[in-house]
Amino acid sequence: MQATLDLAERISLITVSSTMKVAADADKMRREGIDVVDFGAGEPDFPTPDNVKRAAIDAIHNNFTKYTPAGGTMELKQAICERHAKDYGTTYTPAESVVSVGGKHVIFNLMQVLLNAGDEVVIPVPYWVTYKDVVNYTGAKCVFVDTDEDNGFKLTAAMIEPYLNDRTKMVIINSPSNPSGAIIDREEFEQILHMTSKRGIWLMTDECYCRFLYDGDPYSIASVKGAKDTVLVAGSLSKTYSMTGWRIGFGLGPAPVMSAINKLQSHSTSNPTSIAQKAAVEALRGPQDSVPIMLAEYRKRRDFVIDRLRQIPGVKIQVPAGAFYAYPDISVAFGKNGINTPMQFAENALAKAHVAVVPGEAFGTDRHVRISYATSMKELKRGLDRLHTFIAG
Ligand SMILES: Cc1ncc(COP(=O)(O)O)c(C=O)c1O
Repeated sequence: MQATLDLAERISLITVSSTMKVAADADKMRREGIDVVDFGAGEPDFPTPDNVKRAAIDAIHNNFTKYTPAGGTMELKQAICERHAKDYGTTYTPAESVVSVGGKHVIFNLMQVLLNAGDEVVIPVPYWVTYKDVVNYTGAKCVFVDTDEDNGFKLTAAMIEPYLNDRTKMVIINSPSNPSGAIIDREEFEQILHMTSKRGIWLMTDECYCRFLYDGDPYSIASVKGAKDTVLVAGSLSKTYSMTGWRIGFGLGPAPVMSAINKLQSHSTSNPTSIAQKAAVEALRGPQDSVPIMLAEYRKRRDFVIDRLRQIPGVKIQVPAGAFYAYPDISVAFGKNGINTPMQFAENALAKAHVAVVPGEAFGTDRHVRISYATSMKELKRGLDRLHTFIAG
């Protein structure tokens, strides 16, 4: 007899990541021999630094190929705490850390161990697509807070405050933001921390793009005195060291939360790959020069992309202050060729101009698409030529 195909109810609470869907569609076209310019991918086009690769190869030769503690090796936890202390002046200890299978896994785990059905989680718009789904998966409720595009999508404490109530369990901040590249001013961030900590609300800071800031020095809200009680850091090596495929992320926060994640991991993934953990130690403790080199290149690309987008009549674009995405308002293209939504824009741009972009619906807005400029200048030029013609006709 065939097993019933009734899936668990909770899996219907989430949808396939639309960023991954665009990548899959573009990939399919490429395999059919079509010359697609891909602005969809949210990953650096640089190779992983050689010293990091060598550390992984050494790990294999040294037979560091067995289980490690589920929440990561002590060596890596120490390296994470040291790096965070050096970069931002924080004081985390290994007991206040956990290593997971990428930043996404950390975020998923944090939600799993902290949220109950009925809890509310405040998420500024535009948001990284995964927050919504991982919150929904726990049965908690997302409460979306609009930001002002004319003010560069900058989040302020005043925008958040009206949404905090007895049910609010967590506020999520992602600065620099995927998809807008907006950053939150330090005073506003501190103001939000003040508001959340006095109400006993968790403040989760997703620091995935923290080192990719075009002006000013990177900082972590976790460095504020007393912040460690209510701040949860979700960190990732994926973008900082161009290590997306290695799958190493980390959490920093109160020891009981980290040990709850450890417990969850001990029955799910177990440890992140031992070899990748050794590579991560080298990434964190070894030379850091690959980071400013990448940042300088992203800056050149950002300036080029903004300039080219501004040349397309009717397209509006805010200058991203960090990360490697541009988030233009392309609604000037609406009302023509059956295009009335970012999704229809993205489908048509892929089918007709052979350019892959991610529709704004994935990030909670209805007039934008995301362009990743983590690709070569040559590709940026080709793709923007095509987009210009596609929009301006
Ligand atoms: C805002 C943000 N946070 C976290 C992540 C997680 O990255 P990873 O799971 O590769 O560490 C990403 C990846 O795209 C991201 O854009």
